[in-house]
Amino acid sequence: MKRYYITTPIYYVNDKPHIGHAYTTLACDISARFKRLDGFDVFFLTGTDEHGQKIENSAKNMKVDPRRFTNMFSQVFRNLLVTMQFSNDDFIRTSENRHKKACRALWQRLKENGQIYLGMYAGWYAVRDEAYYTSEEIVEVDGVKVAPTGAEVQWVEESSYFFSLSKWQEKLLQFYEENEDFIAPKSRLNEVKSFVASGLRDLSISRTTFSWGIPVDDDRSPIGEKHVMYVWLDALANYLTAVGYPNVESATFQKYWQPNLHMVGKDILRFHAVYWPAFLMAADLPLPKRIFSHGWWTNDGKKISKSVGNVIDPVQLVEKYGINRVRYFLMREVPFGGDGDFSDVAIVRRTNADLANDLGNFCQRCLSMIAKNCDFVVPKANLTVVDRALLDYSEEVLVNMRSHLDSQAYDKALKDIWNFVSKANFYVDDQAPWMLRKIDKKRMETVLYTTADTIRRLGILLQPFIPDGAHKMLDAVAVTSNERTFAHLGHMLQAGTLLPKPYSLFPRYAHS
Ligand code: ME8
Ligand code: MG
Repeated sequence: MKRYYITTPIYYVNDKPHIGHAYTTLACDISARFKRLDGFDVFFLTGTDEHGQKIENSAKNMKVDPRRFTNMFSQVFRNLLVTMQFSNDDFIRTSENRHKKACRALWQRLKENGQIYLGMYAGWYAVRDEAYYTSEEIVEVDGVKVAPTGAEVQWVEESSYFFSLSKWQEKLLQFYEENEDFIAPKSRLNEVKSFVASGLRDLSISRTTFSWGIPVDDDRSPIGEKHVMYVWLDALANYLTAVGYPNVESATFQKYWQPNLHMVGKDILRFHAVYWPAFLMAADLPLPKRIFSHGWWTNDGKKISKSVGNVIDPVQLVEKYGINRVRYFLMREVPFGGDGDFSDVAIVRRTNADLANDLGNFCQRCLSMIAKNCDFVVPKANLTVVDRALLDYSEEVLVNMRSHLDSQAYDKALKDIWNFVSKANFYVDDQAPWMLRKIDKKRMETVLYTTADTIRRLGILLQPFIPDGAHKMLDAVAVTSNERTFAHLGHMLQAGTLLPKPYSLFPRYAHS
């Protein structure tokens, strides 16, 4: 069986999740569901990043012990999975023992391979980004020293272990050259290449000025200071932990390593596309196949951030619009990879047009005609070339979807499904079953059969994107739960099947 290992970033638990976090996991959920329906053995991982100075500070500010603090917020991220109907196979917390064990083993491996040495770090650090910056990168804004990301930096001088990143510069460049699809979109690949080509310095991978992290097992620290692992080394290792590292002989590790896709936002591409492959090469482990870095959501044109106070809460969004509108809008509105702007006007306009008008009306018209004219029963059909052409189009859509999904072009996959919806609406208008009812009942039955089977096919294809809405469509045409994979797309509805009473599957959103 073909396998597929896909990951989200593990999110910082310094605050509750916003729409950006839901967005990344949604994209992964769609890929995971798609691959499962397409016969893959999928492992879909998400979780929370719980160590480091940022979390320690946030806990202090709330006057809570970091352990309690992380328990609380990690649970809020876990709850979001249910709200958003995410189908992850595992949820990892970096505070778990399995992860500490994996991190220590990775550290040990790097050390044995001669990749780690003790030194002194003197430079800039941004707690918000949990990242080191060089002096050339720092600018002063209103008397405050900030990184290019806008995060405030502080000068740090401390004893530190280093990873010999500089040794990997050429190997990384060669790897990017030989693996063109490793970083996507293409524009980002070029950014990463020029960053690496401009020269890599060794990376500080431990901190001594706070304690909320995984301790470095260290028997020969000369001045007896206590090191905790740099939170990004700790965090990236989660992808190994979840599939059983350091037990590389285990069936799970053998089956799933290496990841097919790390999905990340563009803010954390450098960690995934430079540091992570270097760590893995240095530990003699196979590299992930692909890293996709997507864009940012803004709110009415302004970058979503806590300090601006314009954070969009995905839970409130789902309460207001329902899960189908939210999932559909996020994936359809913006070409995946680019930045997108959220507004209430946009979500209502988009979902009323596509879900209510195009898809909803099609389902509603067909199902109510079957209820009225065929006594709720799937009629018999005698398919002609036109009918077949509509139904067969679904297979073409699936072929296109496969290639769009492999390039993470979720918006294009939805456009392809909506081409099918348009064809279906055209078919009904053209065939006019309400006219046929009076002149050719047999033909009317064939047309209604064709529309019902179209609902089935659309339902199957839509499952990765709007599982709730798609399952309602499949229930409406009485498709059993074991006949809903892509392998069932070409099957046909059974004439004589009794259908439930139709209702509006995708109602219009009316402002209250
Ligand atoms: O960086 N638009 O965690 P984090 C789109 N713990 N996506 C957004 C977004 C926005 N406005 N805001 C956040 C970390 N995201 C580390 C990751 S991985 C080993 C460690 C999404 O809580 C996007 O995926 O800051 C971004 O990369 C991620 O949340 C950052 O989450
Ligand atoms: Mg962040």
